[in-house]
Amino acid sequence: MAPTQSHLVPSDRGGYEAVVRDACQVRRFEHEPVPRADVEHMVALASCAASPCSSQAWRLIAVQDHELLAAMQAAVRERFEELALRPQLALHERMRAAAIKQALLFAKAPLCIAVLALPPSSPMKELMELAGVSREEHDRLCARPELQGAGAAVQVLSSSAHAMGYAACWTCAPIVAGERLQELLEVAPPARLVALVAVGLPAELATTPRRLPLEQILSFR
Ligand SMILES: Cc1cc2nc3c(=O)[nH]c(=O)nc-3n(C[C@H](O)[C@H](O)[C@H](O)COP(=O)(O)O)c2cc1C
Repeated sequence: MAPTQSHLVPSDRGGYEAVVRDACQVRRFEHEPVPRADVEHMVALASCAASPCSSQAWRLIAVQDHELLAAMQAAVRERFEELALRPQLALHERMRAAAIKQALLFAKAPLCIAVLALPPSSPMKELMELAGVSREEHDRLCARPELQGAGAAVQVLSSSAHAMGYAACWTCAPIVAGERLQELLEVAPPARLVALVAVGLPAELATTPRRLPLEQILSFR
């Protein structure tokens, strides 16, 4: 698709910075459903995220069906129960409890957005294939563009949700039950479930996590 022309407009820097700085991160949500028009609007904004060769090699499924959410929750619990049987985890009950809490957060919100990554198609990928580079070597050399693209979309989605008054929590711990979740969501390969984003009205005051000082995260050469 040919890129469309756009005219640069002055940005609303204050509004943008407020959305980024006060990322609305909560772990408790109101039950009130998210109207379909709002879901469509936040996803339309997410579609503006950068992606390799503008491929938008990701898809989103908005899950609001209570039965499906309950089945997804059960699948994640079951997976953790399977893991608990591994002798190596016998003495790590507290760690397991913390992990399962993180993994089930998606089911606490009225809306769960499932994020699917599609295999990227780019000249780089074709070049690697022609060169006979193995899948593992390709992943190492090309730094998983499909995950980076999906991540960019999730960040824009979360910020958009926040700008619209919602809280969003990006989770990937439930992907430990990825295969079963994919069955429930009827996701066919090569698409792959990579994250679940919980979205809803916040039911608690948002916290702003502490951030590393600039000198620790930025260097100039
Ligand atoms: C890639 C990625 C994966 C994450 N996975 C989870 C997760 O599985 N469960 C979870 O509770 N939080 C997860 N988070 C963190 C939350 O999205 C959110 O950033 C965090 O809850 C905010 O900080 P807090 O933990 O201090 O509230 C993830 C964040 C990112 C960027």
